[in-house]
Amino acid sequence: MAREQWASKMGFILAAVGSAVGLGNIWRFPYMAYENGGGAFLIPYFVALLFVGIMVMVLELALGHSTKGSAPLALRRLGKNFEWIGWLAIATAFIITTYYTAIIAWALVYLVKLFMVGFPTDFGGFFFSDILALSSGHGDLGGFNLPILVGLALIWGVNYIVVNSGVRKGLEKANEILMPVLFFLILALVVRSITLPGGLMGIEYYLTPNFAVLLTPKVWIDAFSQIFFTLSLGFGIMVAYSSYLPKKSDLTASAFTISLMNCGFSFLAGFAVFGTLGYMAMTQGVPISEVVTQSIGLAFVAFPQALSLMPGGIILAAIFFIALFVAGISSSVSLVESTASAVIDKFNLPRHKAASAVIATSFFASLIYATNAGLYWLDSVDHYINWFTIPLVAVLEIIVSIWIFKGSKLEKYIDNLSEYNLGSFWKFFAGIFSPLFLIYMILNGAWTELT
Ligand code: PHE
Ligand code: NA
Repeated sequence: MAREQWASKMGFILAAVGSAVGLGNIWRFPYMAYENGGGAFLIPYFVALLFVGIMVMVLELALGHSTKGSAPLALRRLGKNFEWIGWLAIATAFIITTYYTAIIAWALVYLVKLFMVGFPTDFGGFFFSDILALSSGHGDLGGFNLPILVGLALIWGVNYIVVNSGVRKGLEKANEILMPVLFFLILALVVRSITLPGGLMGIEYYLTPNFAVLLTPKVWIDAFSQIFFTLSLGFGIMVAYSSYLPKKSDLTASAFTISLMNCGFSFLAGFAVFGTLGYMAMTQGVPISEVVTQSIGLAFVAFPQALSLMPGGIILAAIFFIALFVAGISSSVSLVESTASAVIDKFNLPRHKAASAVIATSFFASLIYATNAGLYWLDSVDHYINWFTIPLVAVLEIIVSIWIFKGSKLEKYIDNLSEYNLGSFWKFFAGIFSPLFLIYMILNGAWTELT
């Protein structure tokens, strides 16, 4: 069976951007920036993007393209003993999908409740007890939260339809529609929020650098781990996606396009979030640094609460949760595809069988987040994945493909395909700088765990 291929270069870029742009851009990035003192975060973020994110993206694209395989197959083709590294990437993708879909389900349930009952008065209570049903009694079905469960079933159904329809008719088509839609949704939110009273104050907080925090390691670690998460690196996704590219494909240009579009989107979403937070800070007379208290609370508590204070806010809230849903779905299909394509390559299964098997398994695994213990699990899994699994996969990928397999060979391969050559700049930053930082991240994470 011939390997599936993207119908167009644009289709591939949009699908990769669809994977990259996700919940991480709308909820995680603004929160990271917020927590790290606003504008101060942008400097390490940009450094991480340029010297590590794009470089590792080039590596993952080259891995998939040169071997024509999803992560496990790609690594096996570099050497028999390395296949497990690819499976580690797949395992990470699998674990992330289970909680990622749970967050999409929250957005969906939130949206439906907004339509049914309008804005609540107590936003924290609304989210934690009505949506998440954390204190039992609300939507509890033997420990299961029924609306979230229904939301999950629906989300997995959509994932099945897209992934089962294949590279061209599924992933490419879906993203060609979803990406422009998402862009306009976010644009609407940006325009509204920067024109609000206090909006510019929020933007100022967002854009004013605070150089003092650059001396704290945490800002750097947060920026680097955000870059990996946001660019969908370390999950075998970019490897699988570039394995569907035609022979002549400029991987360097693609890596830059995908990464810059993704981070540009985050930067834009930041305006919507900070403008709105500035408005809330002004209306309530509190400093902007005190309006958000909890990571997940930014998207599900503070932001909708801020919207509720303005005229027509309910429509903006609907736009916001639809945007979360669209961004989330277009990323979750890529996570599923990463796993499905690994299963197809390994067991030579037809796509529909691989997709059914992967989706049925992930659906059941995701049900844990529909229970009372959901939020607890989500927090610890997200934390563990980000300090340990993602950097580990990335380091191993780098060691095998640049150190063992010979970076110069790969460098030549990449440069032969590209219009602009990165040359040894790539080999240094992908091969030496990146792994050193990643190892530092793992050690730092382990140290914090132990102390
Ligand atoms: N990049 C996506 C985001 O920022 C998340 C994601 C991670 C998607 C891993 C796919 C794989 O939300
Ligand atoms: Na992203």
